[in-house]
Amino acid sequence: MTHNIAVIGGDGIGPDVTAEAIKVVRAAGVDIATKEFHLGGARYLEDGEILSDATLDELRPFDCILLGAVGHPDVKPGVIERGLLLKMRFDLDLYINQRPFLGTAPGSDTEHNFVVIRENTEGPYVGEGGAMRIGTPYEVATQGSVNTRMGVERCIRYAFDLAASRERQHLTLVHKTNVLSFAGTLWERTFNEVAAEYPQVGTAYNHVDAACIYFVQDPHRYDVIVTDNLFGDILTDLGGAVSGGIGLASSANLNPTRTGPSMFEPVHGSAPDITGQNKANPTAAILSAALMLDFLEEGSAADRIRAACADPVTGSTTDVGDVIAERVGH
Ligand code: IPM
Ligand code: MN
Repeated sequence: MTHNIAVIGGDGIGPDVTAEAIKVVRAAGVDIATKEFHLGGARYLEDGEILSDATLDELRPFDCILLGAVGHPDVKPGVIERGLLLKMRFDLDLYINQRPFLGTAPGSDTEHNFVVIRENTEGPYVGEGGAMRIGTPYEVATQGSVNTRMGVERCIRYAFDLAASRERQHLTLVHKTNVLSFAGTLWERTFNEVAAEYPQVGTAYNHVDAACIYFVQDPHRYDVIVTDNLFGDILTDLGGAVSGGIGLASSANLNPTRTGPSMFEPVHGSAPDITGQNKANPTAAILSAALMLDFLEEGSAADRIRAACADPVTGSTTDVGDVIAERVGH
């Protein structure tokens, strides 16, 4: 079966690492048809398009979207992030952001293996709020966080399903219930209610500040973590830092109902400082493509790709891609 993949290489190193990911997917014997979409900061500078509704409609029929990185030094920070990345997450209802972490934290001698499930369509990311009297001593700024029972519950259910499918069958809720009490009680009550339906899954709760300590000092305690959009954003950068670096961190933006395409992207950015130098490590993009294959039910190819990435490869972007492609081909 041919999988139809929309490819948004994006800016900077994005197109290069994405090309390696596609090379590896093909080497693993998975049949994909790709169509490139020229989007990102460079496209915006050309003709003003970030992600129009018409382009979004063109993306909808695809099985998945593979994205490299977006962000351009000549475009004000936030423009492409909100207009492209967040627009895809919201409008395609990619309500799960799944980020796996496998590695050995500095100072530790045992490997950890955990997954963060980050709610991806609510929280402070909705852009609720406003500002007035900007630039004056009387400036006011508010930034809301939206949490709905439906949004929280579908995320928590996904996390319980995932935990139930894993060997350790353990799920930790991370929040800040002692201070963010309105959102916190919604998350906590929903978590406890859904937990009753999964008696085989062990549970725990950590405040987000304590979770930061555990990520560094004792990440082995975690199997699956579920948390809100902003806590998940911050924690997953820390997760990358204790798991071999952001060059290895992969991510899936999922619409588990499959009413539209899910989107897969490395956690790192467009790295304009090393663009065009064939220097960027494509491993995070390749591992993101493996997450895409999991979602496309090509699990054995995905497992072979992960196995091929387990032994680190050094070298240029294309060398690393070639070595991993060669490994999965056998
Ligand atoms: C991420 C990124 C994005 C986020 C930015 C670029 C909007 O940091 O995917 O983690 O905050 O979600
Ligand atoms: Mn982030």
